Amino acid sequence: MAEYKLEVTTGDMKHAGTMDNIYIILFGTEGQSDRTKLDNPGIDFKSGKARAYTIKTNLSLGKLLLVKVEKDPFLRLSEDEWYCSKILVTTPEGEVILFPCYRWIAKGTLVERRGGRAVKVFEEDHPLLIDQRRNELTDKKKLYQWEITDEKLPHNSHYKDVSEFPAEQRFSMAKSSEIFHTKRMIGAELMFKGLAGSTKQWKSTDDMKNTFWFKKTPISVYVMQHWKEDDFFGFQFLNAINPNGIKRCSELPPNFPVTEEMVKQFLRDGSSLKQEMERGNIFICDQKIMDGIPTRIYDGQPLHMTAGLCLFYMNPENKLMPIAIQLHQQPSEQNPIFLPSDPEADWLLAKLFIKSGDLMEHQAVYHLLGTHYLAEVFAIATFRSFPVIHPLYKLLISHFRYTLHINNGARNTLLAPDGPLSTSSLGYEGIIELMRRGLSRMTYSSLCLPENITARGLESIPNFYYRDDGLKLWNIINSFVKYLVEYYYPSDSDVCKDTELQEWINEIYTHGFLGNKLSGFPACFNTVEEVIKFITMVIFTVSVQHAAVNNGQFDYSSWVPSGSLLLRKPAPTTKGQSSMKTILETLPNIGETVKFAGMLWLLSDKYTDVVLLGQYPEEQFDEPAPKQMIKEFQAELSYLSQEITARNSQLEVPYTYLNPTEIESSITI
Ligand code: FE2
Repeated sequence: MAEYKLEVTTGDMKHAGTMDNIYIILFGTEGQSDRTKLDNPGIDFKSGKARAYTIKTNLSLGKLLLVKVEKDPFLRLSEDEWYCSKILVTTPEGEVILFPCYRWIAKGTLVERRGGRAVKVFEEDHPLLIDQRRNELTDKKKLYQWEITDEKLPHNSHYKDVSEFPAEQRFSMAKSSEIFHTKRMIGAELMFKGLAGSTKQWKSTDDMKNTFWFKKTPISVYVMQHWKEDDFFGFQFLNAINPNGIKRCSELPPNFPVTEEMVKQFLRDGSSLKQEMERGNIFICDQKIMDGIPTRIYDGQPLHMTAGLCLFYMNPENKLMPIAIQLHQQPSEQNPIFLPSDPEADWLLAKLFIKSGDLMEHQAVYHLLGTHYLAEVFAIATFRSFPVIHPLYKLLISHFRYTLHINNGARNTLLAPDGPLSTSSLGYEGIIELMRRGLSRMTYSSLCLPENITARGLESIPNFYYRDDGLKLWNIINSFVKYLVEYYYPSDSDVCKDTELQEWINEIYTHGFLGNKLSGFPACFNTVEEVIKFITMVIFTVSVQHAAVNNGQFDYSSWVPSGSLLLRKPAPTTKGQSSMKTILETLPNIGETVKFAGMLWLLSDKYTDVVLLGQYPEEQFDEPAPKQMIKEFQAELSYLSQEITARNSQLEVPYTYLNPTEIESSITI
């Protein structure tokens, strides 16, 4: 008689347990066990509990290959799904093998799980496992299918509604109820105050300060107090929610005829624009991506979207100052170059239009497309191409937690016909067009932060905390990924032989980057080094980059006078004709303003059900080496967190978004 000791762990989320019957069959190289009911005195499967069982066989099963878990209903009542986290099996020979499960099991479902070390497809040597691997992938390709919503955008999951999702992809009850509660709270306050849906115009910017009683953050308050200041305007192009729009300028674009005369007074004494360009102190934000983009019809007229140019000067006090703004691409008499020395309202309006274009690009290109949509592509390719025993599945799976759910929500609510983003100047059509343009310009190297920073000439610009923290995080992630990938792929030939890995990258290339060769994205992998870089980019994008563009949304964009997704009047065409009244007429009305603010609150609120970067609460790896690598990764992130906290304590406006304690492992909001 041989005895197999099992420790079966139920997930710790609410309602993870079940009263239904659970059966197990063990498969080994020398045979299989009987279908055995797991039944101890008392309740067997309670949330967060592990219980021990014994399965007896006449002889040893040899090398243990598979565990089959089956659930049948105890009473034929409503569904009582069970979340099985893992099964630890101790064999009669004393070997302890981990079988990670991490999925909901419904009645009548049979789940097969592999245990032990991660295995690549060409390492499979047992017919049972070869079959199991093939069948698992066939089933997953049915479960996760690509859908083309727009020919020029990344493809997405075929599920229309979260109710159709596999249960693992849905928000936990805790997360759903927190979001629901936050939405209700926002709605109730705005209704009570008569702000929701109000078509009245703001009478003064002071009136905007009390939109919410309690929802204020130190930074949102700072923005209210300092939004008119030029140095704070410049600061936001480096350290607010869109650090992607600025680059070094060594030559003025021909369509931006700023003269020495215009800007001389804003440069250090005796210096010229040419000299400052040579010193590397001049920067530019060029919003040409907006040129000719369709806008929404508002009160019977199309709204206006500018495609502006803004020139910045890094002054001797290390402050980034805007020194010239042109609001459309083609220079003309009706398209003057605004200067800090212009009347206050003209200059504020010019900055408002630049910042509003920047927010629009941020939301459509850098946030939705550059993180959310790409993450969905990475996730679906992973679900379809890798079986759960694959080392890269084990590494990546937690980086796609809740991403399909939040993206479905974004498509069905934020981008719905009456959703907040469709209320913007661009409306639904314009935002989609902006994303199409964003994807056609996107390159692989732009998603790899070290190359991105170099290409934009921002290696040495001072006080650029996004770069400082982001590069450290890139390197930490890269080291972790390098250890792990090299452990599983000792040579380039291992990479070439892994047909599942090749299929994974090809799916991403085809469905994410639409086979665009010029983008530089790989369609296959030839070396270990290529795999390391790509996986570093994937983890960085869904964790660090998303935190950078997501978490500060309420902080920096809820105050519409400094930038707004909707501007109701066209940009000024002459100087000296505008006033504070013009600015208030240009800004969204009360109802529109609070609709945006509510969205930003919801998107950058803190929720309790989070997994931070570096935390891998699912125990996917059985071998000691990857477990040790995860610990070292966590230690590195912890040192960096201390360093960032210390740095921030010295800053007037701290940059907190890339503190590892603030970075989620995946895109969940
Ligand atoms: Fe987000």
